[in-house]
Amino acid sequence: MNVDEKLGPTRRLALGALTVLMAVAGFAAGRVTFNPNGAVVQPIQFNHRKHVKDAGLDCSTCHQYYADHQHSGLPDLALCTGCHQQPMTKSPEEAKLIKLATTAAPPAFRKLFRLPDHAYYSHRRHVTLAGLPCTTCHGAIAETTAPPPGPLVQVVMKTCLDCHARRNVPTNCIACHR
Ligand code: HEC
Ligand code: HEC
Ligand code: HEC
Ligand code: HEC
Ligand code: HEC
Repeated sequence: MNVDEKLGPTRRLALGALTVLMAVAGFAAGRVTFNPNGAVVQPIQFNHRKHVKDAGLDCSTCHQYYADHQHSGLPDLALCTGCHQQPMTKSPEEAKLIKLATTAAPPAFRKLFRLPDHAYYSHRRHVTLAGLPCTTCHGAIAETTAPPPGPLVQVVMKTCLDCHARRNVPTNCIACHR
């Protein structure tokens, strides 16, 4: 589908300006968080254990899409301030969160790893249909008290293939490479 076919000249101009803005913002964000060791740096020292084990929140409070969609999604700071509008602790991280959330372009949480575009994976398929627990591919992330710098479980092609072979589900190349 060609986007230009559906947009008038004004909206196209706006879209162009937005693209430039996003590129600049992306560049700035990249410079701040760039880390030569490949470690992922998050804007807030988020504590999964405190929210999942202590406060008893469901994963879907913050990862809203896994039951019905390909991706799980990460929360934005606006979702956090649904609860953290007023401080409820003395934590400096919470104060930082509240401050950052009101800035013009709040920083985003980042994915720990990303499959290449040619490999298709769907959370709905594995969580809802196959009934797999999150820990199978993400390990004990719910127990973490600070964001890990990388994935706790290395999910590579062999991880996918071994389970598929055990479970008698498709292992032909085009099942995953679409
Ligand atoms: C449904 C409500 C809810 C949401 C949504 C929520 N939190 Fe919390 N958060 C809590 C509760 C409850 C506590 C614990 C308060 C206490 O210790 O008394 C807490 C504590 C905290 C603290 C202070 C304790 C610590 O970990 O140092 C921080 C920082 C924090 N949350 C960050 C976040 C971030 C970042 C998000 C969004 C990704 C978020 N919270 C989303 C309820 C929530
Ligand atoms: C209150 C919000 C909140 C809740 C509840 C929550 N998470 Fe998260 N999750 C986050 C944030 C923020 C990040 C990014 C920072 C980090 O890694 O700690 C994240 C990151 C992750 C990641 C890393 C994704 C990647 O990029 O590879 C996984 C996996 C994950 N969460 C799983 C879970 C599971 C499983 C549960 C339920 C047991 C859960 N989360 C509950 C907020 C939440
Ligand atoms: C069979 C393995 C598997 C299971 C089970 C699984 N995930 Fe994932 N998850 C992945 C893979 C692979 C990615 C990276 C996807 C990509 O980059 O396209 C991912 C990415 C994520 C992300 C990063 C954001 C995103 O949407 O890409 C979050 C958050 C996440 N998973 C949460 C969960 C939660 C919560 C559960 C349980 C309800 C879960 N996952 C179960 C394999 C799994
Ligand atoms: C622990 C077991 C397990 C792991 C790990 C796993 N899968 Fe699966 N996968 C399944 C099961 C079970 C199904 C069948 C689900 C259903 O539809 O009932 C499935 C189905 C699929 C399908 C649909 C296939 C079709 O044509 O019907 C794709 C695509 C897929 N998985 C990709 C992946 C990828 C990519 C990975 C690695 C990132 C992966 N899977 C890791 C168990 C697993
Ligand atoms: C169950 C899902 C699944 C099946 C089936 C599968 N792959 Fe993959 N493959 C992946 C995933 C996920 C990756 C990305 C992670 C990695 O590089 O290990 C990948 C990566 C690759 C790569 C590396 C590409 C790169 O970016 O470096 C090649 C080449 C490849 N697959 C070929 C094949 C061939 C050929 C087959 C059939 C014999 C096949 N795959 C079957 C899931 C699958």
